Amino acid sequence: MESYLKDKRGIILGALDEHSLAWHVALRCQAAGATVVLSNTEMALRLGTISSLAKTNGMPLITADLTNIDDIRHLISEAQVLLGGKIDFILHSVAQSQNLRRHKSYADANYTYYMQTLDISAISLHKLLQTCYDQDALAPFGSVVALTYLASERFQEGYNDMADAKALLESIARNWGGIYGQHNGVRVNTISQSPVATHAEEQFEFVHHFHEYAEQMAPLGRATADDLADVCVALFSDLTRKITMQTIMHDGGFSKTLLSNKGIEHLFRLNAQKANE
Ligand SMILES: NC(=O)c1ccc[n+]([C@@H]2O[C@H](COP(=O)([O-])OP(=O)(O)OC[C@H]3O[C@@H](n4cnc5c(N)ncnc54)[C@H](O)[C@@H]3O)[C@@H](O)[C@H]2O)c1
Repeated sequence: MESYLKDKRGIILGALDEHSLAWHVALRCQAAGATVVLSNTEMALRLGTISSLAKTNGMPLITADLTNIDDIRHLISEAQVLLGGKIDFILHSVAQSQNLRRHKSYADANYTYYMQTLDISAISLHKLLQTCYDQDALAPFGSVVALTYLASERFQEGYNDMADAKALLESIARNWGGIYGQHNGVRVNTISQSPVATHAEEQFEFVHHFHEYAEQMAPLGRATADDLADVCVALFSDLTRKITMQTIMHDGGFSKTLLSNKGIEHLFRLNAQKANE
């Protein structure tokens, strides 16, 4: 693991605090030999702990709102200065839904919030890649990964407008993968990750029960943030040069499992607990 990303330079977007998936990936990339620049919004810097985490680990931090083209242009040009050259990899680990935050259901969506959800959680990847393309900022055979979730293709009650954003995100990754691959060999993939306890994830109803359900249903168990970090290192490395335009299921087999005895037993236990309350 130590040298898989030796001499590689990357940007990690969306680390808010030590629970964030992006933070686990940033640390693992650094341990694998990469030079890493972090980025998040000004508000995230105020509310989260990323500034001190970045300082402690010697990672430069650039503020950018990924819905704002000027911010993205500044981020991409400044990152190349700080990294000393073109960018080898980017992690897009960014999402937000005001409908979810404000408990507006899918059937009662506020459309201003809905458009913001799509902009922050999906179209931001398009804006980012278009800016990289314009600035010719991605090194040949570079790699871009965005984080997605199974609700992009299955109904999960309560995942709300984020499900639509994830479907769009996967489509944007596929299309840019087609364009960038032919341009200079850059790969663009999404990873569909198991549920992990983070700030963004707290908004979902029944979240803790769902973690246990995902753990019990998946033949390999639920994939953790550290497991995800390993997969990102593999995708950013030169070992995966022919993987592009894919949504990689990183869920211990959950998405291919209809029923497991352990999963059913878990549901029975929950039911019994509820009956005793
Ligand atoms: N935690 C999970 O269970 C899980 C599972 C599958 C996929 N994901 C995805 O992983 C990604 C990271 O989420 P997380 O769970 O680590 O939560 P998180 O809250 O730590 O990360 C979300 C990040 O998005 C950033 N963000 C919001 N608006 C932004 C904007 N306008 N510009 C730039 N950044 C902005 C936030 O500041 C935050 O750092 C998200 O795309 C999420 O949907 C999470």
